[in-house]
Amino acid sequence: MTAIIETQGLTRLYKDNRAVDGLDLDIQSGELFGLVGPDGAGKTTTLRLLAGLLFISEGSATVAEFDLASQSEAIKPNIGYMAQQFSLYAELSVLENLLFFADIYDVKKDKLQERVDRLLTFAGLTEFKDRRAAHLSGGMQKKLALSCTLIHQPPLLLLDEPTTGVDPVSRREFWNILTELHMEGTTIIVSTPYMDEADRCSRVGLMYEGKLVICDTPKNIRAQLKGDLIEVFPDDWQAAHQLAQTLPGVLEVQTYGETLHLFVDDGAKQLKAIEKSFNKNGISISSIRAAPTRMEEAFISLIRRLEDETSAK
Ligand SMILES: Nc1ncnc2c1ncn2[C@@H]1O[C@H](COP(=O)(O)OP(=O)(O)O)[C@@H](O)[C@H]1O
Ligand SMILES: [Mg+2]
Repeated sequence: MTAIIETQGLTRLYKDNRAVDGLDLDIQSGELFGLVGPDGAGKTTTLRLLAGLLFISEGSATVAEFDLASQSEAIKPNIGYMAQQFSLYAELSVLENLLFFADIYDVKKDKLQERVDRLLTFAGLTEFKDRRAAHLSGGMQKKLALSCTLIHQPPLLLLDEPTTGVDPVSRREFWNILTELHMEGTTIIVSTPYMDEADRCSRVGLMYEGKLVICDTPKNIRAQLKGDLIEVFPDDWQAAHQLAQTLPGVLEVQTYGETLHLFVDDGAKQLKAIEKSFNKNGISISSIRAAPTRMEEAFISLIRRLEDETSAK
């Protein structure tokens, strides 16, 4: 495998705000790489830097073997960039939008028909090809935007939160398309706020305050979490939360809606003990069970640790 993206200390300043702060990334050709992190972490700035749309403040990067600072024009034909607030032409039809982007990217006339047909099929938009973009559902608009991004068959895709705000069914369809592209060999870097999506990536980078705080496979990131997970569905969330934090063997408590996720030193041993403690303290629970840990819990735990470190400074 060869590196398609390499950055050394990649940094972007907005006045004295280090929006992207000393990023060392090494992404191999063919990866499906997820960029996750809370709002303001620097995901969009990173992707815009890699797309050659922003000047680098410090550090260096190569994309598709071109130097980002001096050869950004040469990089552009090699990438498909889909902005977080992408713009389709609302008054143009699905087909007209595709043709418009084909024109911008100089797609050869003899290739055009085949490519458009393939993308329409791929995105499930064939029967809507004459519908105006403005009249498509949110999910279909995203798929059309992705198709426009793919019209020049770039080997590298940079997608900025392509599924944010889309219904779960469309999200899954969109990811099926990404998986298919990944299998065809396209390198994909996708930012997302959804942790279940991070789980579908071959590797994930977590950004926090401009920095890459962890970069590994989903499996290894999950393994960062200390302890086993016990899921509790209490009737009185607040009382249960208060008690849980004081129980022996409980390393960390996270809340998901009305559910408590307890990380304990030994799941097999603690399950019964914790259930008993709830009963003894008169806190009724509708269920308690051991559960596998997910990326989401690992990230929340990591971010919490970072926030504690920051506030301790
Ligand atoms: N054009 C800009 N001008 C000034 N500050 C910006 C600009 N774009 C982003 N920022 C700041 O840079 C940081 C990272 O933002 P961004 O890359 O959009 O994060 P994310 O995509 O992870 O939400 C934030 O603090 C944001 O306020
Ligand atoms: Mg963003």
